[in-house]
Amino acid sequence: MRVLVTGGAGFLGSHLCDALIADGHSVVCADNLLTGCMVNLTQLVHEPRFEFLQQDVCTPFDPGKIDYIFHFASPASPVDYLKHGIETLQVGSAGTITCLDLASKHHAKFLIASTSECYGDPLEHPQKESYWGHVNSIGPRSVYDEAKRFAEAATMAYRRYHHLDTRIVRIFNTYGPRLQINDGRVISNFMKQALRVEPLTVYGDGLQTRSFCYVSDEIAGILALSRASEHLPVNIGNPSEFTILECAQAVLQVTGSASTVRFEPLPQDDPKQRRPDITKARTLLGWEPKVELHTGLQLSLEYFRDAVQSESTELRK
Ligand SMILES: NC(=O)c1ccc[n+]([C@@H]2O[C@H](COP(=O)([O-])OP(=O)(O)OC[C@H]3O[C@@H](n4cnc5c(N)ncnc54)[C@H](O)[C@@H]3O)[C@@H](O)[C@H]2O)c1
Repeated sequence: MRVLVTGGAGFLGSHLCDALIADGHSVVCADNLLTGCMVNLTQLVHEPRFEFLQQDVCTPFDPGKIDYIFHFASPASPVDYLKHGIETLQVGSAGTITCLDLASKHHAKFLIASTSECYGDPLEHPQKESYWGHVNSIGPRSVYDEAKRFAEAATMAYRRYHHLDTRIVRIFNTYGPRLQINDGRVISNFMKQALRVEPLTVYGDGLQTRSFCYVSDEIAGILALSRASEHLPVNIGNPSEFTILECAQAVLQVTGSASTVRFEPLPQDDPKQRRPDITKARTLLGWEPKVELHTGLQLSLEYFRDAVQSESTELRK
């Protein structure tokens, strides 16, 4: 297949490009480099089956005949979407419509990267796909949550009105090499602080829980869904739940750091619990995550060490 990956210069998009190339497909990556970077694609630069287009996907474009679109373009970390609030709303709305139109034009299949943030600060735990969510439509995080909810609605509408062959993946917290070290997410914050031997910042009492999926598991789940026929949302994430304090301990163990922990007030709308119910992915796709947190942190250590090292070299220049 010839596959378009929007947001392919980002963390997940670049791993997806790698996996699609490894599976023998041709890949066109469209990215405006708002939060992604070309370094994530270094390994593909000389690959003849890979093309990069510097392109804002909110503006209509046509890369030629394509068979599948994976629409991953969107700022994803709280730091990025709070900084680029309007762009986040635009890429979730106009950007999604542009990509859906492109899929209609080429009769291509379409998969949208949605998010556990669609569930907001959930009242149901763990979250099943049937849960409609508990979202504040006017809070600071709404630029992301509502953009993704719109993107899901648009995807369903193109299926209903234009008979497009669509998939919706609700991605839960994913980590691994190429995660930006300054993206404000738990793992990158802790890894960076531990490697610099600075205190690890814990918001609130640290008893709020999160689940973390290693990137190879996440990509395997997304590809399994892309090959299945399910059009309703499917959660892909790791259901093993850790308190933020347990996660801090795991990072300290893996890095061997002597850092301590510093407590700070909880940000507005910060979810207290987030854990996927992956029964649907297990039954429908035969997929489940394989990499547990300690192993995933070990597999990410070299990347974070290099990233912290190059950041401090940059700062000294
Ligand atoms: N990483 C996670 O844990 C996670 C969790 C839930 C959902 N997701 C979703 O997965 C997707 C990828 O997330 P990520 O973590 O790789 O984020 P990322 O910021 O690393 O990658 C997003 C990419 O989209 C590009 N982009 C943004 N706006 C664009 C536009 N208008 N036109 C073209 N490119 C644009 C950025 O430059 C970047 O390369 C996002 O849609 C995100 O909502 C990620």
